Amino acid sequence: MAETTIDLRGMPRAEAYDELSAQVEAVLEGINDHVAGMATVSALIHHGFDHLWTGFYRVAAPGNLLRIGPYQGTLGCMEIQFGKGVCGVSAAERRTVIVADVSAFEGHITCDPRSKSEIVVPVFDGAGRLIAVLDVDSDQIAAFDDTDREGLEKVVAWFARH
Ligand code: SME
Repeated sequence: MAETTIDLRGMPRAEAYDELSAQVEAVLEGINDHVAGMATVSALIHHGFDHLWTGFYRVAAPGNLLRIGPYQGTLGCMEIQFGKGVCGVSAAERRTVIVADVSAFEGHITCDPRSKSEIVVPVFDGAGRLIAVLDVDSDQIAAFDDTDREGLEKVVAWFARH
């Protein structure tokens, strides 16, 4: 296979996410493995948009604890309690959380001080169980909006189908 990560930066965001979803489907064709999916999705998003940090926190204890999964970027925190930080809030409430300015988010967990804004998207399996959250961090303030929410929710829907 000679697939490469596509540069998505010059494109309108909605179009970029369509490209990204198509590439995720193509690269993961025939693969029914969530770890392979998390590693591949992290790499495609991270390098496609040139984000600061992109990766998954997996549900280690349902309703209680998240643990680091496949990611791209500098060293991530190992574990996050449900309800703590942006990832923990997303997991506890099973919804996407967009933070325009992490310094204004009470309880934000700083893994990399360069991070200025982030989006965290819950990831479900085919039975509707929460299996992970996808965390994307930017070194720009207010880097993410509803277009990113829609796009990333569509990308992680792969995990419910495999
Ligand atoms: N900022 C996240 C923690 C994870 S890292 O940024 C990689 C949070 O507040 O949940």
